[in-house]
Amino acid sequence: MSDVAERLEELRDRGLYRRLRLISGPQGPRVLLNGRPVLLLCSNNYLGLADHPKVRGAAAEAAMRWGAGAGASRLVSGSMEPHRRLESQLAEFKGYEAALLFGSGYLANSGVIAALAGSGQVVFSDELNHASIVDGCRLSRAETFVYRHGDLEHLAWGLEQADGCGALIVSDGVFSMDGDVAPLPELLELARRHDCRLMVDEAHATGALGRDGRGAVAAAGLSGEVDIVVGTLGKALGSYGAYVCANAETVDLLLNTARPFIFSTAPPPPSVAAASAALELISPHRVERLQANADRFRSALAAEGLEAGRSRTQIIPIEVGEAEPTMALCERLLERGVFAQGIRPPTVPAGSSRLRLTVMATHRVGELERAAKLVGGAARELGLVAPQPLTA
Ligand SMILES: Cc1ncc(COP(=O)(O)O)c(C=O)c1O
Repeated sequence: MSDVAERLEELRDRGLYRRLRLISGPQGPRVLLNGRPVLLLCSNNYLGLADHPKVRGAAAEAAMRWGAGAGASRLVSGSMEPHRRLESQLAEFKGYEAALLFGSGYLANSGVIAALAGSGQVVFSDELNHASIVDGCRLSRAETFVYRHGDLEHLAWGLEQADGCGALIVSDGVFSMDGDVAPLPELLELARRHDCRLMVDEAHATGALGRDGRGAVAAAGLSGEVDIVVGTLGKALGSYGAYVCANAETVDLLLNTARPFIFSTAPPPPSVAAASAALELISPHRVERLQANADRFRSALAAEGLEAGRSRTQIIPIEVGEAEPTMALCERLLERGVFAQGIRPPTVPAGSSRLRLTVMATHRVGELERAAKLVGGAARELGLVAPQPLTA
């Protein structure tokens, strides 16, 4: 057996083998999976903008006007108008002096952390931060102090130990696998007290929290105060790519030193134009609809005896524990027309595999309530929750 085959076998043995599932059609509330209709409960197309006609139209028009690709890094072959326009829209939306586009959220996080911290310095990172932040910390060559999830005392202790060498505190704004919100005012206070920068990843907060979906930083009244805000175009903005907002000087430094900006082709014009159109479509109505759907779905799940942990947002985890029963639940739900992806290590810590359910503003309340019953029923059949008491 080759070493590659052995590694694949080991993944299968541990219940961690992954495969792609083929769907037809765009990321709407319902998709065809292997030709069968299913309710899609695991997409990050939170506001339903990826399949909005105006967003698709903007992408198509940009493809005709600017072409399919950006040709090179913007520092090499020139910066196109759609990129400049989206950057000024995003800076205004987020309340910052400047913004800079990156190829993806993964590239933005890894590049920004490595540009702002280095050897001899310390980065402070929440233990549940996204993998791209973890990799950014590794790339930076700074020492990383991983503080317990949301534990401000642990963080404060780490900052004191760092004795002035702290460069950056970094946190998800909304945690991607738990749907809870970081304690941003307290993080900022600690950053200021210890003369560190604060960087917040708004991947799951943009479009979901704050006035008109401006994000967790805006919801906390900290726009322009948090030093660096990162976000993706790939979730509520329905496209692909990412951005960083900061003051003009910091953005200039990133343009000059962030390696994924310098050494990677700029995001394609159709994706950039699609995100511009999506930004214009974000409205209080859509954001409220998303929040109301999330609240209704959480309550319907709770009525089935399924608690969503710390979730306060559209990301609703149902923790199962081990990988195999999590995937058994996922498969059973697929048979019944619900696509709710099972999430396993290393995406989540060992022993905390879960269904990560995500709602969209475009789901109907009735279908979410039916889905909650199906999740509850399947979980009970598999012995993952206690049977429901009989009601009189
Ligand atoms: C918190 C967080 N940050 C960053 C990313 C990466 O963003 P992108 O998909 O644009 O690479 C993700 C995506 O899964 C995420 O959940």
